[in-house]
Amino acid sequence: MKIVFATGNPDKLTEIREIVKDLGIEVVTMKEEGFTGEINETGSTFMENALIKARTVAKALGEVTMSDDSGLVVDALGGEPGIYSARWMGEHTSYRIKNKAIIDRLGDLSAEKRTARFVCAMACVFPDGRELTAEEAFEGIIGWEERGRNGFGYDPIFYLPERGCTSAELSREEKNAVSHRGKALRKMRQLLEEEMNRENA
Ligand code: IMP
Repeated sequence: MKIVFATGNPDKLTEIREIVKDLGIEVVTMKEEGFTGEINETGSTFMENALIKARTVAKALGEVTMSDDSGLVVDALGGEPGIYSARWMGEHTSYRIKNKAIIDRLGDLSAEKRTARFVCAMACVFPDGRELTAEEAFEGIIGWEERGRNGFGYDPIFYLPERGCTSAELSREEKNAVSHRGKALRKMRQLLEEEMNRENA
């Protein structure tokens, strides 16, 4: 089975390839398959955006297509940056500046009021219209300072009280085991496996 992954992000591609390789699934990018169209992420939730991407590419290429959408939800900021996480404060603004802005806006709020989560929605759309979806969250709080050099984006301010470190202080393997993306990928893998068993039954 071949799956097109609607992403331009090589890290995401490596992760998904690793997780489905023993199912005999080959993962290719939408670019490799010749998709050059624009996709407007006009949804109002992570899942709507993941579905928009996967449906658009599945329709254009006539192939099974998977996509994901993720971001950071900060409760004290009314859910910001949320689905706008990548574009928040401008697409080219550095995460040093974005992270400082979030810390500043939270001021001296107590730990109980600094709750936040990373969310990952994953969708897999088949040309015949079947759709598989998985959404998972990774709970934490917004820290008081940036810490750690691993990961990317908002990881240095995403503090995990029970571990006493940020997600930027976890190794790649440690983060994958508990993260929104790791959990959503494993759930999607399970759904794909069930779908393949149904097809072969
Ligand atoms: P997208 O899913 O590629 O649209 O990325 C969403 C954005 O959410 C990223 O650009 C980051 O700003 C943020 N984000 C999603 N997952 C993570 C994570 O694991 N660590 C840090 N930031 C993340």
